[in-house]
Amino acid sequence: MSGLWKRVPMRWSSAANTLRGLAYVTFQELATRFAHRNTGKYSQDPVADRIMLRISQDENLHALFYRDILGAAIKIQPSNAVRAITAEVLAFDMPGTNIPGYLRKAMQMARAGIFDLRIHHDDVLWPILRHWGIFELEGLDAEAEAAWQAGDYAGAEARFRQIVALSPGSRAADLSYGDLFTLARQRSGPEQEKALWREYLAAFPRGRYADDARAGLCRRGEPDERPACWQQYLTDFPAGVHRSQASRALDEP
Ligand SMILES: [Fe+2]
Repeated sequence: MSGLWKRVPMRWSSAANTLRGLAYVTFQELATRFAHRNTGKYSQDPVADRIMLRISQDENLHALFYRDILGAAIKIQPSNAVRAITAEVLAFDMPGTNIPGYLRKAMQMARAGIFDLRIHHDDVLWPILRHWGIFELEGLDAEAEAAWQAGDYAGAEARFRQIVALSPGSRAADLSYGDLFTLARQRSGPEQEKALWREYLAAFPRGRYADDARAGLCRRGEPDERPACWQQYLTDFPAGVHRSQASRALDEP
């Protein structure tokens, strides 16, 4: 595996960061496939070219191995997996950044056509992200509905969660929270429901369920915190659906 795990920065090698580590090695293994292949071509030496071709084929297998492990993780823990992938897409560096003069060497490699940002974007990032279905939400909503109809509430919840993770901030995610609220009301305790409202409000402070979520948190708040909560609710939602309850709560001695 080309000393693979030794190349994974230490801060990602703990169990808690396995997903991030998997994202890193998936991108990195595929990147080395192209870099090694192009190094062989650049050498203009038939023997070196064949050696590098052989190595690049191995690197491709490593990439597929990690890609498929993380693909399975996306199905089990979509939110955590997508969060790890996003973080890694934004922070990715090829191995060797600590080598003196790395930037200059990277530019020389780019000029020689061995590896550059275009290859990274077109041949590494996009094919893998597409393979994981990061941009495809179609079908998930229908699957969630079908699972719900069949009484598979955990399955429905997992799919709504997947929509939220795959498309943060989107209309689809906003709507999915509505279904998650209903499921939480039926299946979870008040504390989980409150946690879900808070999570929603952090993502959609003005979302279509923000009014309900804010009122729910006021209703379930500690008695001494309720007046301030309802006051803030009326300030933020002067025409809110729960304004009469808010006013009543504030009138109480
Ligand atoms: Fe490898």
